[in-house]
Formats: sequence, C-alpha cells, structure tokens
Amino acid sequence: MEMDGKAVMSLEDFRLIKEFVAENFGLLVENGKEGYLSSRLLSRLEELRLSSFAEYYAYLKFAPGGTEERLQLVSRITNNETYFFREEIQLRAFAEVALPALKERKVKNGEREIRILSAGCSSGEEAYTLAMLVLESGCFAWDWDVKITGVDIDPKVIERAKDGTYSGRAFQSLPALYLDRFFRKCESGFRVKDSIRSMCSFAQGNLLDLDGIVSEAGVDIIFCRNVLIYFDDGTVKRIVENFARFLPDDGLLFLGHSESLSRITSRYIPIRFPGAIVYRVRG
Ligand SMILES: C[S@@+](CC[C@H](N)C(=O)[O-])C[C@H]1O[C@@H](n2cnc3c(N)ncnc32)[C@H](O)[C@@H]1O
Repeated sequence: MEMDGKAVMSLEDFRLIKEFVAENFGLLVENGKEGYLSSRLLSRLEELRLSSFAEYYAYLKFAPGGTEERLQLVSRITNNETYFFREEIQLRAFAEVALPALKERKVKNGEREIRILSAGCSSGEEAYTLAMLVLESGCFAWDWDVKITGVDIDPKVIERAKDGTYSGRAFQSLPALYLDRFFRKCESGFRVKDSIRSMCSFAQGNLLDLDGIVSEAGVDIIFCRNVLIYFDDGTVKRIVENFARFLPDDGLLFLGHSESLSRITSRYIPIRFPGAIVYRVRG
C-alpha cells in the first residue's frame, strides 16, 4: 500500500512485523501503535528502496542479510533513554546497603571478586554510574576484582557505551562533583576516565538468551531498570527467571521504580531497602 508515494502500513503488515518482533526479541509492540512502528521504519524502507511494508517483512524474514536487518530493526524500535544517576534513591540503596552486605559475604567466603550486570544498559550510563558508586563506596580496595558488564540488544548503543563519551542530557542528574572526579573533557563532550572504564565492559545481546554473555560463574547483582516495561508478562517471567540462574541464592535484582514482579514469578522475594524495593532470589 502507498499514499503520496510513501508506503502505508496495513493492519496485516503491522500484525506480521509485531509478531516478528515479539518472536525474535520478546518485545511487545502494543496494538494501535501502527503509526509509531511505521514512522520508525519508513526511513529504513527508503534506504533499502523497498516500496511496501510487505516487501520489508519478506526482506526481514528471507533476505541473506537477515541478521543485520534484525539489528537495524531493533535499533529503530527500542527506546534507549538513559542518563547518569537515574533514580538516585535506588542507587543510594545499592551503595549504602547492598554493597556493604556484599562485601561482608565475600570476605566471609574468602572471595575478592564482584560481578554486576547492567541488563538493557543502553549507551552505558547505568553501568558507569554503578562503577562510580563502587569506587566511591571505598568498600573494595585495589586488590578486589570488580567487573560490571553492560548488555543491550541494540548494537548502536553498545558502540556508544564502549566509547564512553557523553554530552547534554546524559548529565541531567549527575552531581557536579562526579563530573570533576570521573570525566575528562574532550572535543565532543566528556569522556569517562580510564579508572572507571577499566571496570566496565559491554556486549550486544538479547536478555532472553544470556548464555555466552554472562559467564557460568554468574553475577552478584543485576540491574534491569526501565527495560521490562517493554515486554509482556510471559516474557518478563522468562527474563527474570533466566536471571535467577546467574545469581547466587542471596543475589539481588534491581528493577526500575515503576516495575514489579508481583504476580509474575515466585523466584524472588521483594525486600524493602531505604526508598526502594529490591528483589532477592529465593534460595
Ligand atoms: C529505556 S533503556 C533503559 C536503560 C537503563 N537501564 C536505564 O534505566 O537508564 C531500555 C534498553 O533496553 C534495551 N532492550 C530492549 N529489549 C532488549 C532485549 N531483549 N535484550 C537486551 N536489551 C534490550 C533497549 O535497547 C534499550 O537500550
């Protein structure tokens, strides 16, 4: 279908692409979002010189460059909004309650490794924020091995995370003190200093399948904030129960402040931290 020379998304096109997105990425495109989906994809149709969404769907499914096209698709439909020190009250709970408790447990077990996952990390601000808080907490001296891994399905944001250069809105909640301490000025903005960058690594991947991204040894804490809102309940259950495989019995899961696991899974116990609910894996 075309109107004024532009492809128009029919209800059938919408249904097919919506189902493709759900099957491949677990992402939920709500009914009635035809306008949104079509506006996000029109420029891609033009780049590929395709004249209809039906052709685009066939290209997605059957073209030889299918994998690359899936990544193009996901880049266009995901919401990548993020910034440093987002939802600070939760971050304080992480720094002031979770980190000291984690240190105590590690010391008791004679371990000196900390692993944190930022799941759905977008361009890296969350992972770097966690690294700044770990460093600032003073809980873990030079002889501790701290690794924070960021994972996101969108390859474009992963490239930006690896680069670690930011400007503008990324700093909307960053206390000035941290800008001085953890960034250095560069031509296009501010770059995260090496002391923080060396604690973080980033990988493109799907939260529905973290094998090969998160090591068998697992992680101590997972942050997955402002991500699960894009999935239906069944997919949220799959994702968080999959997380539980990588967490120790008392491992913690931090979700966004408007996200909850009640009525979704019984694998976690909600715990009240100052100002935040955090989920602990049921042993
Ligand atoms: C709104 S951002 C949240 C970023 C950060 N966690 C925060 O709270 O600021 C959501 C991110 O989740 C990513 N995402 C969505 N579905 C995903 C999936 N199936 N696997 C991995 N990442 C996904 C998106 O690409 C996007 O960058």
